[in-house]
Amino acid sequence: MSTPFDYIRKQQETFKEELFELLRIPSISADPNHKKDVRRTAEFIANQLQQIGINNVSIEDTAGHPIVLGNYLKAGPDTPTILIYGHYDVQPPDPLDKWETQPFEPTVRDGKIYARGASDDKGQLYTHIKAIESFIKTGTELPANIKFIIEGEEEIGSPSLVSFLAANRERLKCDMVLVSDTAMFAEDTPSITYGLRGLMYLEVEVTGPNRDLHSGVYGGGVQNPANALCEMIARLKDKNGVIQIPGFYDKVRPLTDQEREAYALLPFDQQAYNEALQIDEAFGEAGYSTLECVSGRPSLDVNGIWGGYLGEGAKTVLPSKATAKISARLVPDQEPKEIFHLIEKRLHEVKPPGVNIKLAEHHGGHPVLVDLNFYGLKAAAAAYEDIYGKKALFAREGGSIPIVADFAKTLNATTILMGFGLNSDAIHSPNEHFHLKDFERGMLTSARFFELLGNYIDK
Ligand code: BES
Ligand code: ZN
Repeated sequence: MSTPFDYIRKQQETFKEELFELLRIPSISADPNHKKDVRRTAEFIANQLQQIGINNVSIEDTAGHPIVLGNYLKAGPDTPTILIYGHYDVQPPDPLDKWETQPFEPTVRDGKIYARGASDDKGQLYTHIKAIESFIKTGTELPANIKFIIEGEEEIGSPSLVSFLAANRERLKCDMVLVSDTAMFAEDTPSITYGLRGLMYLEVEVTGPNRDLHSGVYGGGVQNPANALCEMIARLKDKNGVIQIPGFYDKVRPLTDQEREAYALLPFDQQAYNEALQIDEAFGEAGYSTLECVSGRPSLDVNGIWGGYLGEGAKTVLPSKATAKISARLVPDQEPKEIFHLIEKRLHEVKPPGVNIKLAEHHGGHPVLVDLNFYGLKAAAAAYEDIYGKKALFAREGGSIPIVADFAKTLNATTILMGFGLNSDAIHSPNEHFHLKDFERGMLTSARFFELLGNYIDK
């Protein structure tokens, strides 16, 4: 009788082919033109779950994209129930001309699968589906009850999932949530993420004269909305990288001495970081290391800015309007709504005369910190150690998975962030990829986690 681990090792090729099929569907949640593709992806996932023997598989319609559910509750009431969460939607692939191969035609190069969603999150999500399959198909008893919740709106802020959780508390009841949608600290360096940043995202539109103007006839005589926008943005942060918005840092939980010591122990190579990004030097809040700045401290950045003439050549024009998308990554205990209002107030304060501004808030999310003493985390660390042959590290990360805060709030469940990706996987960028070896080790680690979990209950 083969074990789940033999099964996973033997089925590598098949699993890869199946993942490729999933990666071929352009499930871009942000783009209404891909609504049908997003649905097709939900159907593909639901079909997969059914084929591996998951019960009660359903596609739940929402106001946006569908949510896929399923369960396998054969372990009995005294064993933990794990809710496996993942997302089948992906970010838009542009700029397309920067991809070496097509984003939705998965290709293997140098041991990596290249495709949009390979790492974020289809490839990582798939590790758990296949781990569960390996138990069911080898007739090995699963020592935990399993529930699946797989959504298609993570990349647009999970607008439907929040209310879905609240409306389906009983159905989704669980002891913990398992998520693989983060990165390991470095290649061959297994790590568990215990902190995620939150997000506040807004758009500001600056308007001036009632039409675009000749820059010779009017230049120097009116406020230029593009200039005004730049001036306002420049006043949001000082030269030391300190955000200049009154109240912004009020609720930031300071890093403890213990945390700063833990950060210092992580194997981070500043020079390699700069080289990988081809930058002369890193830049962040004075007094904090790069690692602290990108995960333990909040940040504020322009994500897009435009206005005026963007075509070929020169057009001598004063734009009547300029716009910017601005976002802040937040840490506990900052509140996205409060931060929006603080920035709104600040922008009105620094707005020069002669223009008007209008703000709109986009989706956001709360930051999270996971209790390091949770038994599930210990089981996860042991599973990584067995498969990767190295002790797992614990690290905070800078990205956001807004629904994780809702799992705690609505389901009262702790989330284990068991990432198999790497920060160098180029998620959200051209040439996103996922290492084949991490795809395989991810499936094995997941299977080992389910196997070990019982040993750690209340220990
Ligand atoms: N998988 C990422 C989040 C992530 C990436 C966490 C790297 C930790 C390390 C996720 O799919 C994502 O990109 N989330 C968005 C959330 C946003 C759209 C609300 C993000 O962080 O920008
Ligand atoms: Zn993701």
